[in-house]
Amino acid sequence: MGDATDDSKVRRVSIPRSAMVIASALDQLGRVKQWMRELVEHVGLGPREAFDMTLAVHEAVVNAIMHGNKQDVRKRVEIAHACEDGRLIVRVKDEGNGFDVARRLGRALKSVSPTEPSGRGLLLITRLADEVVYNERGNEVRLAKVIRRRG
Ligand SMILES: Nc1ncnc2c1ncn2[C@@H]1O[C@H](COP(=O)(O)OP(=O)(O)OP(=O)(O)O)[C@@H](O)[C@H]1O
Ligand SMILES: [Mg+2]
Repeated sequence: MGDATDDSKVRRVSIPRSAMVIASALDQLGRVKQWMRELVEHVGLGPREAFDMTLAVHEAVVNAIMHGNKQDVRKRVEIAHACEDGRLIVRVKDEGNGFDVARRLGRALKSVSPTEPSGRGLLLITRLADEVVYNERGNEVRLAKVIRRRG
C-alpha cells in the first residue's frame, strides 16, 4: 500500500493519449509549441530528440494550416499523441484534399535549389522523425520518434 513499487508503477504510466484541435491560423502555432514542450517533457525525450520531433511536428502543422486547410479558420487541424512500443507518435490531420505525397517528396529529394525559399518542410519532416507515414489522401501524417532511455 503506497510503497516504492506502487510509485515506480505510477511513474511508468504516462498520459496514454492526448489531443488538441486548432483553427487554421498561424497564430495558433504558439499553442502547439507549448503542447509539444509539455509532451516531450512528460514522455522523457532527450533534448536532441525533443528538438527534432518538435520541429517535424511544427512543419507538419504549418503544412496542414497553409496547404491543407488554406488558412480557412473554420477548418480545424487535429494534433494527437500516443505512446506505442517505446515510441512517441504524433498525428497531424487537416480537412483538406491532401496531395500526392510520393511525387512531392520525390521532387524534394531530387534537389531543392538553394535559391528556392520554400519546399524544405517535407524533407525536414522525413529527416527529423524516425518514421513518417501519410495516409492515402495525404491529409494526415503520423510521425514517430523512438524514446531513448536517459542515463
Ligand atoms: N497537408 C498538406 N495538404 C496539402 N498539400 C500539402 C500538405 N503538405 C504538403 N503539401 C504539398 O507539398 C508541398 C511541399 O511541402 P513542403 O513542406 O516540403 O514545402 P512548402 O510548405 O511549400 O515550403 P516550406 O515548408 O519549405 O516552407 C507543398 O507546397 C504542398 O503543395
Ligand atoms: Mg511546408
